[in-house]
Amino acid sequence: MNPSQPQLPTPDIAAAASSDALCRHIRSHIATQDGWISFADYMRMALYTPGLGYYSGGAAKFGTAGDFITAPGLSPLFGGCVAATIAHVLQESGGNIIEVGAGTGQLAAQILAELERLEQLPAQYGILELSGELRERQRQTLQTLVPHLAERAVWLDTLPTEFVGVIVGNEVLDAMPCEVLQLVDGAWQQRGVVASEEGFAWQNRPLHDANLLAACARWPQIPGYTSEVQLEAQGFIAALANSLQRGMILMLDYGFPAGEFYHPERSMGTLIGHYRHHTVHDPFHWPGLTDITCHVDFSAMYQAADQSGLCLDGYTSQASYLLDCGILDRAAQLDSQSVEYLRTAAALQKLLGHAEMGELFKVIAFSRGLEGATAPGFRAQDRSGEL
Ligand SMILES: C[S@@+](CC[C@H](N)C(=O)[O-])C[C@H]1O[C@@H](n2cnc3c(N)ncnc32)[C@H](O)[C@@H]1O
Repeated sequence: MNPSQPQLPTPDIAAAASSDALCRHIRSHIATQDGWISFADYMRMALYTPGLGYYSGGAAKFGTAGDFITAPGLSPLFGGCVAATIAHVLQESGGNIIEVGAGTGQLAAQILAELERLEQLPAQYGILELSGELRERQRQTLQTLVPHLAERAVWLDTLPTEFVGVIVGNEVLDAMPCEVLQLVDGAWQQRGVVASEEGFAWQNRPLHDANLLAACARWPQIPGYTSEVQLEAQGFIAALANSLQRGMILMLDYGFPAGEFYHPERSMGTLIGHYRHHTVHDPFHWPGLTDITCHVDFSAMYQAADQSGLCLDGYTSQASYLLDCGILDRAAQLDSQSVEYLRTAAALQKLLGHAEMGELFKVIAFSRGLEGATAPGFRAQDRSGEL
């Protein structure tokens, strides 16, 4: 046992069996690939194999019974703030909303409820979600929280070719498969995955891919330096940009600009797992039952958007974003004697606290064809210069 890792809870029999089935599936895929797959391929299979992957299987994932909590699960005021940005944009652009990677559907419910209050409901709230299991959960959440608005939600299989409106995503980019590179004996290598009797293990190969070589060209040349490249997330931003005819792409996630991400002191990268509210440093821990994630390189996302002809509308910390969207005024409207008020006070601490989500999480907005004033969320602090 790793001495720095506390004893982790063991999964129940059904969950362990599901993980075993996923391991067999990954193992047979590795066998068809001459015994080695890239880490991105492993991560894609571990998270998104239909019926078995972490996001596509039956694991609880979100909330206290799951492995982690995201902002919409902390307080509906989060979605109320996001809706303020969306309402501002829709006023100018018109059109609809697409949420990418909608998780439990809580953010969708919060945004729809707030837009109804503002009398700015779009005709359609599209959801682009990879996981069939989560699509069903999103449907149920909307039916429970905003039944009269649920019919506006539609689940998309692909992005529309000419979309007008707002595309929004919270903690989606960090859940996309990343490649892991390592400097060994003065040369960058690609980290991949092999299977053995004991399970899965890392194995490096010489790096030949031109895109990956270009990505690590400016990383610190420190022996053993290890970090991630998110080519898939960059491609995703480009795909969203190609779809967006007019309007905004609004992404919220944890991460840094490149200078901070690829800092000499961050020599082990940012790849981590989440398992029952523990941070796990072994990405091969209970495949299918452990979330795998890496932080977002916001400079790379900006470059992908810029190359697709989008404007950068704003980049700031989550704390600054939510404060500018009036989260404190929204909280002040609650009855100070209510349980909801106490719950909200605790949520604000997490959402805004410098040592919690307030500074690590960032909000970035790209747009096409907008000329109006800066949207709520980005008026107080502009950190675009860091990208
Ligand atoms: C960490 S969860 C965040 C969920 C939710 N947005 C929240 O804040 O709670 C990541 C979500 O992104 C989805 N996802 C990952 N890659 C995706 C892709 N390429 N297209 C659509 N959804 C994706 C996952 O299935 C999951 O719903």
